[in-house]
Amino acid sequence: MATQDAAADEKVKRGAFSSRKVFIFAAIGSAVGLGNIWRFPYVAYENGGGAFLIPYLVALFCAGIPFLYLDYALGHRFRGSAPLSFARLSRPAEGLGWWQVGICFMIAVYYAAVLAWALRYTFFSFNQSWGDNAEDFFYGEFLKAGEVGVDLTVVAGVLVPMVLVWLAVIVIMVAGVEKGIGLTSVVGIPVLVVAFLALVVRALFLPGAAEGLEAFFTPNWETLTHAGVWAAAFGQIFFSLSIGFGIMITYSSYVDRDTDMTGSGAVVGLANSSFELLAGIGVFAALGFLAQAKGAEVGDVVEGGVGLAFIVFPTIISEAPLGALIGVLFFGSLVIAGLTSLVSVLEVVVSAIRDKFDLSRRLAASVVAVPCAVISLVFFSTASGIYVLDILDHFINQFGILLVATVSMVVVAWSLRALPLLADHLNVHGSIPLLLWWRVLVGGVVPIALAYMVFDSFQAVVETPYGGYPTWMIALFGWGAAAAVMVLGYVISPIPWREDTSLADPGEEAPPHVDPDPFPHVHVHDPVRPAEGTDER
Ligand code: ALA
Repeated sequence: MATQDAAADEKVKRGAFSSRKVFIFAAIGSAVGLGNIWRFPYVAYENGGGAFLIPYLVALFCAGIPFLYLDYALGHRFRGSAPLSFARLSRPAEGLGWWQVGICFMIAVYYAAVLAWALRYTFFSFNQSWGDNAEDFFYGEFLKAGEVGVDLTVVAGVLVPMVLVWLAVIVIMVAGVEKGIGLTSVVGIPVLVVAFLALVVRALFLPGAAEGLEAFFTPNWETLTHAGVWAAAFGQIFFSLSIGFGIMITYSSYVDRDTDMTGSGAVVGLANSSFELLAGIGVFAALGFLAQAKGAEVGDVVEGGVGLAFIVFPTIISEAPLGALIGVLFFGSLVIAGLTSLVSVLEVVVSAIRDKFDLSRRLAASVVAVPCAVISLVFFSTASGIYVLDILDHFINQFGILLVATVSMVVVAWSLRALPLLADHLNVHGSIPLLLWWRVLVGGVVPIALAYMVFDSFQAVVETPYGGYPTWMIALFGWGAAAAVMVLGYVISPIPWREDTSLADPGEEAPPHVDPDPFPHVHVHDPVRPAEGTDER
């Protein structure tokens, strides 16, 4: 009884998902984001088309899902945010968690800007406001991007949707784990799937769609011998599955003990990759149409990232029959997918702050989201936002997410030798047994592969400055940001935890010292304790 009370107390203190279903929806909501819709199709095409599916599936099954299980095991076993889970595993490892918190803060500030652009473009789609030249419109009239450098002139057309995005995010974060994040995902993901399926079906019926799909799926087997192609597959899987930066540790700490964690992880991993493939099919069917309309090759019209969403797609919308519908479905999908990912990124920070300091949900959400929103607005609703965003995104991914993932695997597997403990935990709480294969992958193959990728990226940016930006911008928004989040771990770790946050391993069973309950009937209904509630304080 006392153990149940402690668990109920913990739920009320930290928040919790009410069921496995809500957890799975939230995890899929986090995974399916901008990375699936605008990043995957281009990365796949650039790295061998159909042949890319081989490194991609290898990365999914050998690195993505095994690492997802590592995150799940940490959060579910130690029942804390990323820093608390690491601290409970071993006090000196706490800094790894704060490093992940810092990465999430940085991602949130620029992710919100892209969401805001997508929100604005959903409305632009109705009358195709970009006119004849989507590229000039995007950089000129919409972003008012000037010379490369820092120009803090506010762009009202970006500021207003950004404020709206941040207000929505703050409302969701204040509402809490179940009523905010859970509900947004349970409602948002089905809407997203229906909207995106409608988009893909519409795209498949456009003239030229078959040529687009042929370009996407035609395998270039020769690319499989390039290390960079494998690196691209691993990078895509980590960002897309939301692993390695604290999200899945945090979410799995909100799940009941008796949840099938490994089965849930398989569902999340496969759902995320299915959505990614669907995005590839939809985007390339649309690109096939554009190529035919322009009398060009598919390879000549394809672009990645910002260019794909905000230049190529508007052009498709202008050319295609029922273009406005395509626009609303495409940009609306980006908004929903991005919102459920953005709240997951911010929850890593909110959860860590609440575990560490004695703050109510409302206060913690405000203390995190308001400064994040202000920084986001200062840098990204201004004329140089696009340049800062491009640099920050690249460096935080390569030298933030991938680096912290590598270091944490080495620390957990080799320094703390915790893989057997974590495997045992998931073997009790899962339907897919984690045997020797899991330890070999997480303790050996994956960190070696990631370390190689990080080194390769490092060499590339040392040889050629990223994106041709001035050195001072790369130093400040690239290396500076990546280093700042790493240092954060060392600065925050020594601060004591709030009094009622214990650093003891919560373990599997009831604590041995629990007193037998002398009046069991008294607790059947305890009016002062919301026993089964998940409402947070
Ligand atoms: N997993 C999220 C995405 O793909 C962050 O965008």
